[in-house]
Amino acid sequence: MTWPATVITLYPEMFPGPLGLSLAGRAMGEGVWSLEAVQLRDFATDKHRSVDDTPAGGGPGMVLRADVLAAAIDAVRATRPDAPVLAMTPRGRPLTQARVRELAAGAGVTLLCGRFEGFDERIFAARDVEEVSIGDYVLSGGETAALVLLDACVRLLPGVMGAPSSGEQESHEAGLLEHPHYTRPAVWDGRAIPEVLRSGDHAKIAAWRTAEAEADTRLRRPDLWERYVSARVKSPSGARRENKDEEA
Ligand code: ADE
Repeated sequence: MTWPATVITLYPEMFPGPLGLSLAGRAMGEGVWSLEAVQLRDFATDKHRSVDDTPAGGGPGMVLRADVLAAAIDAVRATRPDAPVLAMTPRGRPLTQARVRELAAGAGVTLLCGRFEGFDERIFAARDVEEVSIGDYVLSGGETAALVLLDACVRLLPGVMGAPSSGEQESHEAGLLEHPHYTRPAVWDGRAIPEVLRSGDHAKIAAWRTAEAEADTRLRRPDLWERYVSARVKSPSGARRENKDEEA
């Protein structure tokens, strides 16, 4: 079954962009997922086809009109009633691997891309729309954020990633950063690959990787480490499984 993505945007020519290449592009060619870019301006009703207006109360920039956004959302919902609608905005809830996993397992997504100062807030009261941020920085529009979200989802769709197991061990899947990797040559620039990785002892290698993942997470991402540890304390047995569930 095809996982359908619809993007509502003022710049449909930005899509599929990089997602037309490599793994995602191949998967699209095979019908694993589809992408439709819908022009928001097509839902404007005045003769100037305007989609935005000045902010109430004054201030710089322009705000996307709720009536135009609602018309676009309603039109897409009529054809994709089961796909959740997500608005890309730095005011949204930070995107996590757990949410990405849920979206990839669902009925597709409809993404609303903001421009200018953002959306008229009334759209979020009037329609079921989830506000999503891809990080604490401001992009010039939601389109690049939509590409990021789609990339993260599409690579999890069945048959897209070459080696299925590589997805399960990577960063964030267990609530930890992934362990570091090495490859040949065994010595480069006077630096040797850690001895344990050349031992052939799979149990020892697995233990080393877990220890490295934990140490790196603790140092680099105290926020993730805190969550990982508290999930482990709650459930001393099967801590890794619990972590996966808690995150979702
Ligand atoms: N639009 C502008 N900045 C954004 C961000 N950080 N995340 C999602 N959408 C955005």
